[in-house]
Amino acid sequence: MRKNVIAGNWKMNKDLNESVVLISEIINSTKGLGSNVGIIICPPFTSLETANALLKNSDVALGAQNMHYESGGAYTGEITANMLRAVGCKYVIVGHSERRTLFGETNEIINKKLKSAFNSGLYPIFCIGETLEEREGEITEQVVEKQIREGLAGIVENDFAKIIIAYEPVWAIGTGKTASPEQAQEVHKFIRKLISELYSAVLADSVTIQYGGSVKPDNANELLSQPDIDGALVGGACLQADSFIEIIKAAK
Ligand code: PGA
Repeated sequence: MRKNVIAGNWKMNKDLNESVVLISEIINSTKGLGSNVGIIICPPFTSLETANALLKNSDVALGAQNMHYESGGAYTGEITANMLRAVGCKYVIVGHSERRTLFGETNEIINKKLKSAFNSGLYPIFCIGETLEEREGEITEQVVEKQIREGLAGIVENDFAKIIIAYEPVWAIGTGKTASPEQAQEVHKFIRKLISELYSAVLADSVTIQYGGSVKPDNANELLSQPDIDGALVGGACLQADSFIEIIKAAK
């Protein structure tokens, strides 16, 4: 049985003081919710160390939103996987569509990042998804397949077992448009089938595949009740404790 995992991607929001407030609210409201749903928050880099201290003894795990694939050197402004580990991160988001489109990340770069994350013991949340143009051109499956094949090139079963996949149709991110539960389920099922071809039926059956793109308390239930949707990567709705908690409750 796969358990649902809800991750909050804070993006470029919340300074340190605001982060402390939101994290404290999340910790209070998740107390006693039980462990049958995984909870991850991914605040900005500047809040990670404090977040880690606050999250000790809570049911909430810590992740970062990005990292560089190199292990150090002259890369002004960048952060290594080991640095993230050292401030208590367990997870890291890799290949988010905003990184792909606004910062030029290719499948090849994302592949290097995934490998670097595994080398440092981080668990990646690997994001994939098609644009509106690609969906309308009816090439969603080809796009997702290419992102998966190239993103996971050379990644062995042992490492793959630590990955969370997040299917996020780009046209649904931050737009208020969600894929219908059926549309999302169709792609999730396709992804699971592809994983079974690339790795094994056992890994395909156990991998967590989150949906992301305008997930809100009022659509979470329906999306999460689909057989191949195992949680959500939440942007906008994770910036307030009550809507984030509502989504976590829907995942229970
Ligand atoms: P959204 O963002 O929930 O605001 O659409 C999701 C994401 O970008 O991960």
